[in-house]
Amino acid sequence: MALLLLLVTLTTCAATPQNLESKMFTFPEATNTAHTKLLTTKQDLSAVTVCLRSFTDLRRGHPIFSLATSLASNDFLIFKLDESDLFDLWARDKNAKFALQDYKLNTWNAICSTWDATSGIIQLWVNGKPSSRKFVSFGSNITEPMSIVLGQEQDSYGGGFDINQSFIGMISDVHMWDYTMSSCEIQNYSDELSFSLGNVLNWNALDFQITGRVLIEDKQTC
Ligand SMILES: *[C@@H]1O[C@H](CO)[C@@H](O)[C@H](O)[C@H]1NC(C)=O
Ligand SMILES: *[C@@H]1O[C@H](CO)[C@@H](O)[C@H](O)[C@H]1NC(C)=O
Ligand SMILES: *[C@@H]1O[C@H](CO)[C@@H](O)[C@H](O)[C@H]1NC(C)=O
Repeated sequence: MALLLLLVTLTTCAATPQNLESKMFTFPEATNTAHTKLLTTKQDLSAVTVCLRSFTDLRRGHPIFSLATSLASNDFLIFKLDESDLFDLWARDKNAKFALQDYKLNTWNAICSTWDATSGIIQLWVNGKPSSRKFVSFGSNITEPMSIVLGQEQDSYGGGFDINQSFIGMISDVHMWDYTMSSCEIQNYSDELSFSLGNVLNWNALDFQITGRVLIEDKQTC
C-alpha cells in the first residue's frame, strides 16, 4: 500500500532540509507547471556528478534532471529522447547523444552522469553500466546561481516548461557532487552499496520547493 504522506498543491517552502531516505517524488500527471525545485548554495562548479533513480513508462522525450542558469538553459541536463534507447546529455548548452542497452520502462533505473570542465568530457551510467566518454564543452565553469528542476525541462531560467516534455513517474535518491565520482562509487550507488552522499544536493538532507501536484511518498517496497 502506498502511504500518502504529503500532498502539496500550492508552492511551499521547505524551511529546513529533509531526509527523504526511502521516499520518492511522484509526478502523477502531465502539466506545464508541476515540478520540484532543488536548492543549493554551491555556485562555481568545475565538475559535476548527478545520480538519481527514475521510474516511468514515458516513450516520448522527457527530462530527468534539468539545471539552468541565466547564461545557459541547458547548463546541465539529462534528457531521455523518444527513441527507445537514446539519452541526450548537455553541459553548458552543448550536447551529446548516448545509446544504452540497459534502460527499461516500468522499473527503477539508476541514472548517473559526470562532466568535467577541464577535459569537457561527459559520460552516462545506466544501472551501473558506463557509456562511451564524449566531448561536449570545456574551459568554463557553471558559475551563475543554479535553478535545478525535477519534473519539467527548463527552456529558460526556472521556467519555459512544455507539457509535452513533462516528466510523469517517480524520482528518488537524487545526489549531486561538485566533482566527477569514480566509476566504482557510481557502481556502488547503482547497487545500493556505500557511497559518499552528494555535497551539492543530498537526498538525505534535501532543501526543495514543490509547485503543483508533486507527491512525497514512501517508495513501494515489499
Ligand atoms: C572553476 O571552479 C574551480 C573550482 O571551484 C576553481 O578553482 C576555478 O578557479 C574555476 N575556474 C574559473 C575559470 O573560474
Ligand atoms: C502537445 O502535444 C499535443 C499532441 O501532439 C499538441 O496538440 C499540443 O499542441 C502540444 N502542446 C504544446 C504546448 O506544444
Ligand atoms: C563500495 O561499497 C563497498 C561495500 O559497501 C565498500 O567496501 C567500498 O569501499 C565502496 N567503494 C567505494 C569506492 O566507495
